[in-house]
Amino acid sequence: MPHSEDGALAPDPLDEAAVQATVDLALQHIATASNLDELKGARLAHVGDKSPLSLANRSIGQLAKSEKAAAGKLIGPARGRISAALAERTLALESEREATILVEEAVDVTAAPVRRRAGARHPLSLLQERVADIFVGMGWEIAEGPEVESEWFNFDALNFAPDHPAREMQDTFFVEPPEAHLVMRTHTSPVQVRSMLEREVPIYVLCPGKVFRTDEVDATHTPVFHQFEGLAIDKGLTMADLRGTLEHFARLMFGGEAQIRLRPNYFPFTEPSAELDIWHPGARGGPQWIEWGGCGMVHPNVLSAAGIDPEEYTGFAFGMGIERTLMFRNEVPDMRDMIEGDVRFSEHFGMEI
Ligand code: PHE
Repeated sequence: MPHSEDGALAPDPLDEAAVQATVDLALQHIATASNLDELKGARLAHVGDKSPLSLANRSIGQLAKSEKAAAGKLIGPARGRISAALAERTLALESEREATILVEEAVDVTAAPVRRRAGARHPLSLLQERVADIFVGMGWEIAEGPEVESEWFNFDALNFAPDHPAREMQDTFFVEPPEAHLVMRTHTSPVQVRSMLEREVPIYVLCPGKVFRTDEVDATHTPVFHQFEGLAIDKGLTMADLRGTLEHFARLMFGGEAQIRLRPNYFPFTEPSAELDIWHPGARGGPQWIEWGGCGMVHPNVLSAAGIDPEEYTGFAFGMGIERTLMFRNEVPDMRDMIEGDVRFSEHFGMEI
């Protein structure tokens, strides 16, 4: 007697009880198949080429002529019942699967989204870049210098007298050992001298960077802050060029109605020297003059210290604090917010400043 694929015996095509048992077994498998994969297995086992009833059907050919019709009447409907049960179970399982998918893949449009914080760049970096962009747009170059600076670049070459009060301990962080004569730079002006030594005249450079002073942290002071220094050295530069440059810069930073004002002041490295005020039309307490930074014509002694002939070249320089600029430009009343590193402070400024 032929065996089906899974070893089940093919029923005798004339044995009604055996055929019925085969059908019952198949119907039971089909009914208990819990998913389409299991049903596929049942299909193979019960209607496949090597299933008991297919084998029984094939064996009809070997029967005597008189027995063939009876066997056919038994096997044919038996196979039909299995096929019908398969078709019905397939439909049922398919709609079950679709219903599950609908539930599992449903999108709850009312659910609160999972927000991933994008982070934000610090407004001091953004402002520093904006300042640099403005000067690069005027054809200037960016120059940098070290934060640990030699006393000579920070003071001597800038025409500070040996007993100038700014050299004293209360302003300057000195780096040990004292014989090394190193300081944490107290301003970005040493980059003026470095630029003059490293570059060919004419020179147009903007030098942004960190500076250090022995100040306690409060709403308007921090021992580490940022400045940007501008330096232009060329033939025939005058105070009018300084003024024009600063006015153009001020308008790009504070709007077309911004104005600048220069008030006499003293810096060892510029002569004449001036305090720079800005007329800030959008200031918090209404339009007003605000102290912004220092500036002046580069002192002939500074040009000489850097090997530039003051008879042939003149120059102007200016320096401002970035924290201070951010305070009155973007209404940050307390400098401590800038140094605490809370991302919510930065987020509030967005990507453009
Ligand atoms: N370096 C000066 C300061 O820190 C600012 C300044 C720069 C003044 C350039 C004049 C020219 O106060």
